[in-house]
Amino acid sequence: MDTLHPLIDRFGREYVGRRMMLQARHSADVYGGYGRLRFHPENSELLPWLARVGLKVAGLAGRTRRNCLDYHVERREFRIRNLPAPFHGLRILHLSDIHSDAIPDRGERLIRLLQGLHGAYDLCVLTGDYRFQTSREYDTSLERLAPLLKPIYCPFGMIGILGNHDFLEMVPGLEALGVRTLVNESLHLERDGQRLWIAGTDDPHFYAAHDIARSLADVPASAPTILLCHSPEAYQEAALSGVDLYLCGHTHGGQLCLPGSLPLITNAAVPRRLVSGPWNVDRMLGYTSRGAGASGIPARLNCPPEVAIHTLTG
Ligand SMILES: [Fe+2]
Repeated sequence: MDTLHPLIDRFGREYVGRRMMLQARHSADVYGGYGRLRFHPENSELLPWLARVGLKVAGLAGRTRRNCLDYHVERREFRIRNLPAPFHGLRILHLSDIHSDAIPDRGERLIRLLQGLHGAYDLCVLTGDYRFQTSREYDTSLERLAPLLKPIYCPFGMIGILGNHDFLEMVPGLEALGVRTLVNESLHLERDGQRLWIAGTDDPHFYAAHDIARSLADVPASAPTILLCHSPEAYQEAALSGVDLYLCGHTHGGQLCLPGSLPLITNAAVPRRLVSGPWNVDRMLGYTSRGAGASGIPARLNCPPEVAIHTLTG
């Protein structure tokens, strides 16, 4: 109960109750499985085994595993309307889908990469999915996340949100690691008396717990706003709500892709152009990270993991 009281105080009894009921139902499905075969992809050893065998037969097992550590640094510029002058040139390190407890080298290479980016960004945002599994315990993911976040140092600190692999109870642990975690909340950065608003929703993909209106409730009308949302799936509502920049992940860019980065599975009900990289919907700009980690099995093909640095211009 010690974990729950601060959550209830912050998010309300009803919200915490609903999120945890969905988490419990999902965990029951994972443990109990569906139908007579009591099957669930996450408690099945068959599917990962089949995938591993398939990759091995295709001669791709070693390559797809090594690809998980072939981090690309993606750099983009985003022109934000009404961006206050003190924020022109603001650099945002964007990490997503770390799935920290399943990185083949336990994060050694990612840590070295992040150490090398010291001084290259002013703010770090994390768009969810810190854990590999979607149920069971989460302490291991937080323990493995800690050394990955240690090299991250910047004037505006780290701001994160939850993904569909993350339980609400992870919020205090994430905040103890220095990640201010927004759950349908917002905050503002301040420079020379000017403000840039960052809003963050809860997961829209599995828990459908995102509440964009609530996330933006404290944001003044027409103030420049960045929205962090785990999946691109809330893009329509965000565009109608006046969000300027929508940062997300979840899709892993497909993770296992055909040549030409063509995803076989996107795991998100969005147009293909929103599955990875920069996009726009009406006047709202967006960016979907391919993520730094992998889920299902530690394998990537034609879809390298990424760390992004976004620069804002006016
Ligand atoms: Fe996800």
